[in-house]
Amino acid sequence: MKRKIGQTNVEVFPIGLGAMALSLEDRPPEAQAIRTLHAAFDAGIGFIDTADSYCIDNSDLGHNERLIRKALARWPGSPQEIRIATKGGVLRPRGDWITDARPRHLREACESSLRNLGVDRVFLYQLHAPDDQVPYEDSLGELVRLREEGKIAHIGISNVGREELERALIVAGRIESVQNRCNPFEQDDLKNGLVRRCQELGITYIAYAPMGGHRGNRRLPASEPFARLATRYGASAYQLALAWLLSRGANILPIPGARRPETVLDNTAAARLQLDPADALLIDRMSGWTGEPGLKTA
Ligand SMILES: NC(=O)c1ccc[n+]([C@@H]2O[C@H](COP(=O)([O-])OP(=O)(O)OC[C@H]3O[C@@H](n4cnc5c(N)ncnc54)[C@H](OP(=O)(O)O)[C@@H]3O)[C@@H](O)[C@H]2O)c1
Repeated sequence: MKRKIGQTNVEVFPIGLGAMALSLEDRPPEAQAIRTLHAAFDAGIGFIDTADSYCIDNSDLGHNERLIRKALARWPGSPQEIRIATKGGVLRPRGDWITDARPRHLREACESSLRNLGVDRVFLYQLHAPDDQVPYEDSLGELVRLREEGKIAHIGISNVGREELERALIVAGRIESVQNRCNPFEQDDLKNGLVRRCQELGITYIAYAPMGGHRGNRRLPASEPFARLATRYGASAYQLALAWLLSRGANILPIPGARRPETVLDNTAAARLQLDPADALLIDRMSGWTGEPGLKTA
């Protein structure tokens, strides 16, 4: 049931946790955030996704990484069981999300992440997004140097298409993950062959915003056909979305976000949900669907 991270020897529970919502402007109180992370660790979730930019603005950079470090320090289990994947290459001036993937910035960002997380080496360091002001090869090249220096164990990329994947492979030789948006509403990478290409290359496809996003997730339970299908499985609409994603490729690792321990527990149970192939196909056909009434299911 576990899923391998790229071609590493690390296998994790098939559903990870995206920690972003624990540090944005609508973040929960710190005690609740730590309870949420502990619920994930206790449930066996071994892959936590973060970024230096998961915070309120530039004065708060690294908030999410420091929170994870604090939660791990207070957790009675063994921190080595929890793999932390972080990202660099985005800044938060006045709370905006602005790409900065200049090599010098990436080096500084990675070194800050090491301090925030309290480690000598990051398990997986992801280039958050291509920067149209910087050749992609230059950004990737700095990650390769950081890997050679031992500050990064593995490289991942995010917010990319097939072309960037091939370019990244030329520069880095090996990358272990691609992290893109993928959920029942947004299935582009399942249709355009990116997920399959990753599978051929032994690369983990990390599905971010698997529920439709930080703000868009309420569309799942609000959609009558989706909710009805979930009820047939005795599952929540969120569990159905995760079970569907897991069924779409053995290399897919969804990282749902959560601000409450109950959310984590609901999502963990989705790993046991087996979808009938015909129902998975029904969800495939929902691609491009907005969650509004009038959904075409055929
Ligand atoms: N690489 C990138 O550029 C990028 C961009 C965006 C996100 N990400 C990553 O992807 C992760 C997830 O994305 P996201 O947080 O934007 O969106 P998401 O996972 O699609 O949605 C998260 C929201 O859905 C709610 N939810 C999840 N499971 C639920 C359940 N079982 N029952 C009820 N509510 C449920 C959560 O509620 P509660 O808050 O109430 O618990 C949370 O607010 C982020 O944390 C981040 O790590 C990466």
